[in-house]
Amino acid sequence: MKIKNICCIGAGYVGGPTMAVIAQKCPEINVTVVDINEKRIAAWNDKDVENIPIYEPGLSEVVAEARDRNLFFSTDVDAAIDKADLIFISVNTPTKTYGMGKGMAADLKFIELCARQIARVAKDDKIIVEKSTLPVRTAEALKNILENTGNGVNFQILSNPEFLAEGTAVKDLMKPDRVLIGGDINSEEGKEAVQALVDIYNHWVPKENILTTNVWSSELSKLTANAFLAQRVSSINAMSELCEKTGADVNEVAKAVGMDSRIGAKFLKSSVGFGGSCFQKDILNLVYIAKSFGLNEVADYWEQVIIMNDHQKKRFAANIVKTLFNTVSGKKISFLGWAFKKDTNDTRESAAIYVADYLLNEQADIVIYDPKVTKEQIYADLNYLGTRSEKENRSRVTVLNDPYKVCEDAHAIAVLTEWDEFEHLDWKKIYDNMLKPAFLFDGRRLLKKEEKKEIGFEFYAIGN
Ligand SMILES: NC(=O)c1ccc[n+]([C@@H]2O[C@H](COP(=O)([O-])OP(=O)(O)OC[C@H]3O[C@@H](n4cnc5c(N)ncnc54)[C@H](O)[C@@H]3O)[C@@H](O)[C@H]2O)c1
Repeated sequence: MKIKNICCIGAGYVGGPTMAVIAQKCPEINVTVVDINEKRIAAWNDKDVENIPIYEPGLSEVVAEARDRNLFFSTDVDAAIDKADLIFISVNTPTKTYGMGKGMAADLKFIELCARQIARVAKDDKIIVEKSTLPVRTAEALKNILENTGNGVNFQILSNPEFLAEGTAVKDLMKPDRVLIGGDINSEEGKEAVQALVDIYNHWVPKENILTTNVWSSELSKLTANAFLAQRVSSINAMSELCEKTGADVNEVAKAVGMDSRIGAKFLKSSVGFGGSCFQKDILNLVYIAKSFGLNEVADYWEQVIIMNDHQKKRFAANIVKTLFNTVSGKKISFLGWAFKKDTNDTRESAAIYVADYLLNEQADIVIYDPKVTKEQIYADLNYLGTRSEKENRSRVTVLNDPYKVCEDAHAIAVLTEWDEFEHLDWKKIYDNMLKPAFLFDGRRLLKKEEKKEIGFEFYAIGN
């Protein structure tokens, strides 16, 4: 089976970059990315490719090459579904905020809407690919919806979870550690569908890096991978608190531990806590699934990863208050960074949001600089918490696009995102323009301690 037309529903952080790379690598396949968000699609189609809605190093170049050649962005979802041989579903699967499973289970309403729309529009056989991260056995529900339309169309459902990390999405897509494809490997049609997707990736991914499994293993592997990654962060963060009490340094501990080849050195960086749209929601979903099977010990084990992460964010904020003589009321606290990590403009579940919320409850005035996050996004993130009125957030929080102005007359600076440029700021100039004592809290272990102390800063870093 040769795929000629691909449709991807969802032009977000996954759908956009993933399809851009597929289009670039497979010039003979037409790829149409659709979304109901008109503003987002307009931005993907912006003449100036630097204005695409997602910031990822290298992405604008890939889009520039493929867009309007074989890569298209559109709001006409029906037309793209109709034309496609293969449809990726790449819509958001957030944590439910209502009803059964509130605060834990994945909200699958966007997935179900896609399935119903495909079922309504499709006139010929199609391969449906789960690209979104989903609870194990979602493919069964999709099949049920798609196959009960009575219009005689055959659907093959594959699971092809995305493992890209924001900030390095293009690099990860170009050279993935592995591509995972789950399908109905017991039927000829299933095998054919799996092969069709393998053939697409095989344009640039070596065969040995393309793994095929049954659908349930594929769905569960994505949740497991995210749980393991987040667990490493929480494990080293737990040690960071012990380091602060004992005189050990968490970076030295991480290095010593990571040199054991059984453990490995990656993802052992202590910080103010992990963020991003995935880790928390996927672990909560895993906890919910385990509980729903009565596996309470399994659920409790994984929930602790989230509890530790929340503790780390709170403890960082509480340490600022404690160090500033137990009050930050009316004091200016400068934030360097708001994105959940460097090289992305994504702020979902960013630790900065929760640290800000804590300090605002203590009546601090917060001034923020982030090189890629807009002012409106920052207010939206704070307003979403619903802790205080929008008016109050606007009056207590200022966003500026100059890091030096942000730090002027500050009582303290908190580094919340590890943007490279923060390392290279003129820290002497910043120090000279601050109130004294000048407190500097490094939530990312980004800055050199001795250098900052020499300048005169009262310097605090996680795990040191
Ligand atoms: N962001 C990541 O780093 C990452 C990595 C791997 C996997 N994932 C998973 O991929 C999925 C998508 O994540 P994302 O970060 O790209 O989300 P996103 O919110 O950035 O994008 C999802 C898009 O889907 C659109 N959408 C929703 N319902 C739609 C519908 N019925 N028709 C058309 N468009 C619709 C939304 O408007 C939105 O633009 C999630 O399941 C997530 O867990 C994300």
